[in-house]
Amino acid sequence: MSSSSFLTAALFLSLMVGGLNAQLSATFYSSTCSNVSSIIRGVVEQAAQSNVRITASLLRLHFHDCFVNGCDASLLLDNSDGIASEKDAPPNADTVVGYEVVDDIKTAVENVCPGIVSCADILAIAAEISVTLAGGRSWNVLLGRRDSRTANQDGTSALPSPFETLSEITKKFTDVGLDTTDLVALSGAHTFGRAQCRFFSGRLYNFDGAGNPDPTLNTTYLETLRQICPEGGNENTLTDLDLTTRNDFDKNYYTNLQNNHGLLQSDQELFSTSGAATIDIVNRFAASQSDFFDSFAQSMINMGNISPLTGTNGEIRTNCRRIN
Ligand code: HEM
Ligand SMILES: *[C@@H]1O[C@H](CO)[C@@H](O)[C@H](O)[C@H]1NC(C)=O
Ligand SMILES: *[C@@H]1O[C@H](CO)[C@@H](O)[C@H](O)[C@H]1NC(C)=O
Repeated sequence: MSSSSFLTAALFLSLMVGGLNAQLSATFYSSTCSNVSSIIRGVVEQAAQSNVRITASLLRLHFHDCFVNGCDASLLLDNSDGIASEKDAPPNADTVVGYEVVDDIKTAVENVCPGIVSCADILAIAAEISVTLAGGRSWNVLLGRRDSRTANQDGTSALPSPFETLSEITKKFTDVGLDTTDLVALSGAHTFGRAQCRFFSGRLYNFDGAGNPDPTLNTTYLETLRQICPEGGNENTLTDLDLTTRNDFDKNYYTNLQNNHGLLQSDQELFSTSGAATIDIVNRFAASQSDFFDSFAQSMINMGNISPLTGTNGEIRTNCRRIN
């Protein structure tokens, strides 16, 4: 290859990579809606007064948005002509909550900056605010995402299930460009919020088909969970993902795993899968909250970068539940 065609190829490649990386920026709304974060913070604080769980629910919304067609608020679209809502798919139906608070945020933002701030960015900002309100550390949220004009109901199969193996879950993360450190750090989100019995009761009574519980469950914790979720009881009963500090964003998720107190099979696998690369990372975060907070911030930025719509793609929805 001649040096000039090499340079052309290199330029082309860097433009491609630049295009794929999409130009999100921390200052995207600084001249058009400089107060957007405080507006959102106000609504989240208000909602948290009557529902302490809302911070966890809002963080999860951003995750369930980003893993399906990228961070484009496709999750928020209701059913309508031509839209089969992602909300109705198994990974979301009767489990993802908080949509009404997103509506309240959108209304508050539209009142001050109409037509400016995307629903996808609202989810990213609300996730960061939620983590800080629960005791976690702040980060610079990158902004400039636009909202999709479609949903991808079948695409929700990209979301990890709590019954999958560590290698299946790892693959779902690598499929969206996230690595093992991202997986372990982002799983730390299970330091707050709630889960229904149906997502872990399979571990409590007959995990192996021979009437035995999951051998990786701490026996003391097993007894506690059996009281919360009795055999044949209500599978929708909620309990804490982190029984030690239920509403706090801290590193206890990882110390729980070290004690075999992971609630979901997918949680405990990070520490109990023999030879797994995740074990050392769990130990590192269990030993240092500041290491966890650093990695969590970086991994949230990485997750927030999954295939955003930018520029003139997509739109800024007026109502997060409907395309314009
Ligand atoms: C690694 C694979 C993951 C699996 C298998 C998984 C699965 C689950 C399940 C089954 C629940 C309980 C839902 C219910 O009972 O209704 C849950 C809750 C939650 N998840 Fe995950 N999750 C994963 C990763 C993540 C990530 C990456 C985040 C965010 C960064 C996250 C944030 C949350 C939060 C905050 C809750 C509590 C939500 C609430 O109380 O409303 N999860 N997750
Ligand atoms: C920004 O929003 C906060 C909270 O809603 C409000 O107290 C403050 O006055 C606003 N500042 C500006 C410049 O609009
Ligand atoms: C089980 O949990 C208790 C705390 O409830 C802890 O002291 C113990 O070390 C744990 N056992 C194992 C095997 O992790």
